[in-house]
Amino acid sequence: MSLAVFCSGSGTNLAAIIRAVRRRQIPTAIRLVVSDRADAYALVRAKRAGLPTLYLNPRDFSSKAAYERALIRALERARVRYIALAGFMRILSPAFVRRYRWRILNIHPALLPSFPGAHAVHDALAAGVDVTGVTVHLVDEGVDTGPMVLQETVRVLPRDTEASLLARLHRVEHRLYPRALRYLVEGRLRVGRGRRVELVAHPRR
Ligand code: GRF
Repeated sequence: MSLAVFCSGSGTNLAAIIRAVRRRQIPTAIRLVVSDRADAYALVRAKRAGLPTLYLNPRDFSSKAAYERALIRALERARVRYIALAGFMRILSPAFVRRYRWRILNIHPALLPSFPGAHAVHDALAAGVDVTGVTVHLVDEGVDTGPMVLQETVRVLPRDTEASLLARLHRVEHRLYPRALRYLVEGRLRVGRGRRVELVAHPRR
């Protein structure tokens, strides 16, 4: 089942996903790497890996709906079934999310529901917590509110800066995200009662 990865930045998670696909740890093909930023280093990583890339500049479109229509056309052309958000800094519309219902994963550098939003690492440090972590969740219509798939804690050390903490969070992300993506493309994630995610052993397609 084919995958697209959406990125806006450096793409270290994209690199981890590419590695896991090559090692057959995720039974999928990456059909498209999408970015909303021309200077995203993720695009360089994708091209080096020989993957098809698509840079879509939001400024070239009259509205978010028009932007997403172009995105959907490209995804359909590439026959993409699943989407991994890996540092994609745009919020997808409810219509887009509904179209790919429970087929989009996101990774977030905090233990949701704590510290949602774009500054999670900064916010956790500013709050003085001893423990933060990483969450992988299915994407719903809210911001960082979807059903959680995997979480892992990371300790905050007394001398941590944003950079040092982010480096340790990244190490966990690069392990957790490929695992969650494997479950997703194997069709093993079910959203049950209370929006709890159940991991089923044998997917029914
Ligand atoms: C990650 O920390 C992820 O949790 C967040 O954006 C960051 C992307 O990093 N959503 P990278 O581009 O994969 O290095």
